[in-house]
Amino acid sequence: MQVDLKGRVAMVTGAAAGIGRSIALTLAQNGARIAVNDVNNAQRTCEEIREAGGEGRFYQTDVASVAAVNSMVAAIEHEMGPIDIAVNNAGVNIGKNRVPTYEFPDEEWHRIIRVDLDGVFYCSRAVSASMVKRQKGVIINIGSAFGVVPARLQCAFTAAKAGVLNFTKSLALEVGAYGVRVNGIAPGSILTEGTRSLFYNPESKQKADSLISHIPLGRPGETEDIAAAALYLASDDAKYVTGHVLVVDGGWTAGFARDW
Ligand SMILES: NC(=O)c1ccc[n+]([C@@H]2O[C@H](COP(=O)([O-])OP(=O)(O)OC[C@H]3O[C@@H](n4cnc5c(N)ncnc54)[C@H](O)[C@@H]3O)[C@@H](O)[C@H]2O)c1
Repeated sequence: MQVDLKGRVAMVTGAAAGIGRSIALTLAQNGARIAVNDVNNAQRTCEEIREAGGEGRFYQTDVASVAAVNSMVAAIEHEMGPIDIAVNNAGVNIGKNRVPTYEFPDEEWHRIIRVDLDGVFYCSRAVSASMVKRQKGVIINIGSAFGVVPARLQCAFTAAKAGVLNFTKSLALEVGAYGVRVNGIAPGSILTEGTRSLFYNPESKQKADSLISHIPLGRPGETEDIAAAALYLASDDAKYVTGHVLVVDGGWTAGFARDW
């Protein structure tokens, strides 16, 4: 899919790696100028954008810090111009030490909620203020299939992601009258540097096979599958789409993919 985002400024959070990197590159390939955010170094993503002939500027900011987010959005608008597209993608989850809710540590709960839910709120609030004034703009929040259908042993992540998706709809109701569109994407299991080992390490083969048996398309997704969805939602082709959650999960949450 090729769309014309020439001259538009897009902020993508969590764009050093994984899905965020892919979204940043795809929006850039379609003409957008990219404010590349990450709490870690994301210069590599900026270089890749520049090597492909685009513009990418790095803003190193923790989206869980309200003051830092407000300063970052002000800096982007000052240095690059008003933000036309904001993709709130930065997210974290519990690592491999998964435990049930009755053993879930406070610090992990707060760490995940602060990044995955507070971060989306801080970024959405900061960018929507000027979008409402300009009467244009697009916000895309990256949730999760687990925000649509919950999973065991990930209580903070599922709570945060369900919050992100309902928040997305509530913001869409508020800003639609000002020409601002707000949508969510709910990825299923996507191959990234972080999840690749689950699918390709021989010792986790049983776990990977079990997961894949629930996915009608029979494989994990690619980061480009999420980037394509973001590109569509960012484009004028989606000009009548707001308050929507686009599930991109190979059919995982459509129903039961196994017989019994
Ligand atoms: N990969 C999947 O299977 C999958 C599935 C469902 C949802 N998601 C969601 O997609 C988004 C991207 O996931 P991913 O798999 O690419 O993850 P990833 O870990 O590969 O990349 C996330 C990026 O966010 C950055 N980040 C983390 N905390 C941050 C903070 N406080 N401020 C700014 N940046 C921060 C990280 O440094 C990293 O570069 C997340 O919101 C995640 O929950 C991913």
